[in-house]
Order: sequence, then C-alpha cells, then structure tokens
Amino acid sequence: MSETNLLNKTTKNHDVNSNSKTYNLNRFSVAPMLDWTDRHCRYFFRQLSKNTLLYTEMVTTGAIIHGKGDYLKYSEEEHPVSLQLGGSDPQALAQCAKLAQERGYDEINLNVGCPSDRVQNGRFGACLMGEAQLVADCVKAMRDVVDIPVTVKTRIGIDELDSYAFLCDFIEKVSANNNCDTFIIHARKAWLSGLSPKENREVPPLDYPRVYQLKRDFPHLTMAINGGIKSLEEAKEHLKHMDGVMVGREAYQNPSILAHVDHELFDNQLAIADSVSAVRAMYPYIEKELLQGTYLGHVTRHMLGIFQGIPGARQWRRHLSENAHKQGADLSVLENALKFVTEK
Ligand SMILES: Cc1cc2nc3c(=O)[nH]c(=O)nc-3n(C[C@H](O)[C@H](O)[C@H](O)COP(=O)(O)O)c2cc1C
Repeated sequence: MSETNLLNKTTKNHDVNSNSKTYNLNRFSVAPMLDWTDRHCRYFFRQLSKNTLLYTEMVTTGAIIHGKGDYLKYSEEEHPVSLQLGGSDPQALAQCAKLAQERGYDEINLNVGCPSDRVQNGRFGACLMGEAQLVADCVKAMRDVVDIPVTVKTRIGIDELDSYAFLCDFIEKVSANNNCDTFIIHARKAWLSGLSPKENREVPPLDYPRVYQLKRDFPHLTMAINGGIKSLEEAKEHLKHMDGVMVGREAYQNPSILAHVDHELFDNQLAIADSVSAVRAMYPYIEKELLQGTYLGHVTRHMLGIFQGIPGARQWRRHLSENAHKQGADLSVLENALKFVTEK
C-alpha cells in the first residue's frame, strides 16, 4: 500500500493509521464551525495534514431531509471526515446517519454544545444536555442503522446544571449499554440565555481539570478535549490526560499549525507541508470549482490566515480580499498574492 493510502486509511473501529502505527481517529481534529469548516475549507486543511480528523459544519436533519441543496456534498480527498448533525428526533437522525454512511463519511457526530436561540427553538444543541435519555435514544437510533462511529460533542454543563455530578450523570446515561463510546468535551459550560454563541465561547471559564477528571472516571470511553487550545505544545500536554484534542478557532485563523500535526502528533517524520505548497496544491481543485461556477473567494476566504506571522501576510490577505470576489477572478489572483510572501 502506498504511503498516501496508508495515511488516509481509516477503519471502522475508530482508528487512523500513520507510519505503521495505529492511532484513534479523534486524536487530533479540527472542530465543526458553522460558516467556516465548509467543504472548501476542509479541502484546504487536508493539504496541510493527512491525519487530522475534519468536522463538517453542523448540518440539521431538517436541511438534509427537506432542503433543496446537497448538504452532504464533500470531496473524497477530505477523508477522514466526520459529519456533525444537529437534531433531536431519533428517527430523523437515523435517516440522516444512514445517508451519511452511504456517502462515505467516516464518523457521525451529534451536536450537544451549540447554545444559539435558533438551535434551542429546534430543541437541539446544548439544551440537550438537560435531556440525557433523549440523547441516548438519538445515539442508539443512529447506531442501530450504521457501523461507522457515532460520537457526541458536548459541554461540561448548561445554566445552573453545572456540577460535576450532573456531567457524570449525562455521560453515564449516554454511554450506558455501550451506546456511545466517544465524547468530545468543550471544557466550558454554556449559558442558554443572556449570552450570544460567540460570548458562550469566551465568557464561561475553561475548566480543563474537570475534563481530565471525567476521563479518569470513565477510562473505558474515548474522550477528546476542546476549547481554547492554541498550539501543538498545548495539544501534547492535553494528550497526557486525554485521548484526543479538538482545535477550532486557532486552526481556522492560523492554519499553518496543521502542517505540523502529522509529524508532531502522529509520528510521521516525512510530513511537514509548507504553506506555499499547500496553497498551490489547491490549484487543480480550484480550477475544477471555478468551472462549476464557484467564486474564487468562496475558497480563498479560508486561506487568508495561512501566512500569519510571516512578512507579507497582511498584503496576501488584502490582495485576496480585494480581488478574489471579482467576476472572473482566477488562479492568477492567488499567484499574485503569493508574491507578497515569497518575494523578499
Ligand atoms: C464560527 C464558529 C462556528 C461554530 N459552529 C459550531 C458548530 O456548527 N457545531 C459545534 O459543535 N460547535 C461549533 N462551534 C464551536 C467549536 O466547535 C468549538 O467548540 C469552540 O470554538 C471552542 O473551541 P476553540 O476554542 O478551539 O475554538 C463554532 C465555533 C465558531 C468559532
């Protein structure tokens, strides 16, 4: 098997192989982020790391079942990729999970962490932390119809329901009878009213020790930690306590950290992608997308942060922001923008 095939291969028992070693699929992932981790973004991140698990934005069961577009569209090159579902109707979730498996997704993840009003009105997202039995039923309904992993992304509490005992009770109920064996824990609670989703990612304090304690108390479960992680050094510290690390905003705003993931966290000595090569590796994909009517800017908006900290980064961003949305913008816009970071 070629090295690329080896790196990309995922197995149904939640594993990813790299350099002849086996790691769990959730060892390092980029978080689901609405409006950010769309398929163009994920395709770009994949140029930087082969082993990182990439999450889709949250897709609601309603959109998949009743929507007009293809909400499950992705590229083969994105593997390993996990579909995050938003919903709380077990039958609808099962229907979507089945479709996702048929389309080749590597994992299904249930959103039990989003606090937005819209999501609460639909009775899903973080408010489901208060309905552990319903979450268990949702996971069971999905697991009954697929053999890919079904995982849950949750917070450490909601509103006044923020004791450690409450969190343990939630995990206990959702994981009972081998129902769910993988959790991603955003290490802060959510306030369901009074704070915007953005504030809910900043205001409630992070509590890493509580998440470590959870892993110690449920050693048989696979647990990844999320929230406020900004470097691979920090990720390595967390991996001393946890099975996995999920990074959100830092990966999006500073994607070059992904270039070191395969080497640092998956022991792949060969794999450090340089940022300029990662940009140029996007060209065939972009050309195909342009032919299909995608605007250049829809892809390049996810690439703005790639040269963060490098001389010329500001001009790179400005050139793309000013030109990539113009009618007829093509790869020459990217080549011209690259001159700011490659010509000294
Ligand atoms: C723009 C944006 C959109 C997000 N959308 C989702 C989402 O669709 N589903 C979800 O579970 N979390 C969502 N989140 C939360 C992230 O997945 C993550 O839990 C949070 O940002 C904390 O991780 P970080 O500090 O590494 O960014 C979103 C975060 C951001 C910044």
